[in-house]
Amino acid sequence: MKRLILALLLISLPLLGYANSESEHLEKAPINLQDRASLQRGAQLFINNCLGCHSMKYLRYERMADDLKIPKKIVEDNMMFTADKIGEPMLSPLSKEQAAKWFGTAPPDLTLEARLRGADWVYAYLTGFYADNKRPWGVNNHVFPDVGMPNVLEKMEAQMGKDAFHKAVADLTNFLEYASEPVALKRQRMGVYVLIFLVILFVPIYFLNKEYWKDIH
Ligand code: HEC
Repeated sequence: MKRLILALLLISLPLLGYANSESEHLEKAPINLQDRASLQRGAQLFINNCLGCHSMKYLRYERMADDLKIPKKIVEDNMMFTADKIGEPMLSPLSKEQAAKWFGTAPPDLTLEARLRGADWVYAYLTGFYADNKRPWGVNNHVFPDVGMPNVLEKMEAQMGKDAFHKAVADLTNFLEYASEPVALKRQRMGVYVLIFLVILFVPIYFLNKEYWKDIH
């Protein structure tokens, strides 16, 4: 009996995502892929503040609309500044040459950023800018020393205050986490179904088990 419970637990842990171990010293990014409103806010923040420089070339507007349940009309009217058709990938209008001239380095594509660096790093990076007069943009970053990116969220932070700003960055990080692995949304839902299935299956197995051993004990 105990062994059966243990086995069920062992099967279910990876499904819930506990198997993912994150980096130790960074603060945990307060994100939740099940929070659709947060993902929608994150998408809007990304498009308004980041897409000017960074592409997400592996994510199409249409996929985002479907996954995050954003009505296509809203995406077409309010979110597609850099594309004509909803089937197009999310590309920045900034050319590599321009970028190299302005920033010394091209802003990398961010589709896979959260998988590359981890969501905790992305969150620490976006909340980690500080004033530094020795740098060309007057800012530096705690987790990315001598970064070439200006602190584009500075104004937003000043207007919102620290707490609301951190929440907004969490939404943005949540969106980057989603973009780096869109199927994770579906997989997490599947995991829950599998767990429910296992729990239901457990009941007849328990009684069958009792029944089989009844005469032997
Ligand atoms: C004005 C252009 C510009 C905007 C707008 C901008 N970035 Fe950047 N970003 C850059 C540049 C340039 C770099 C490369 C910095 C370097 O390599 O030193 C960069 C780097 C990054 C990195 C680190 C990439 C790595 O090397 O792992 C992340 C993450 C990032 N940006 C996220 C964002 C997010 C999120 C937004 C929107 C809030 C944003 N950026 C808006 C120019 C921009």
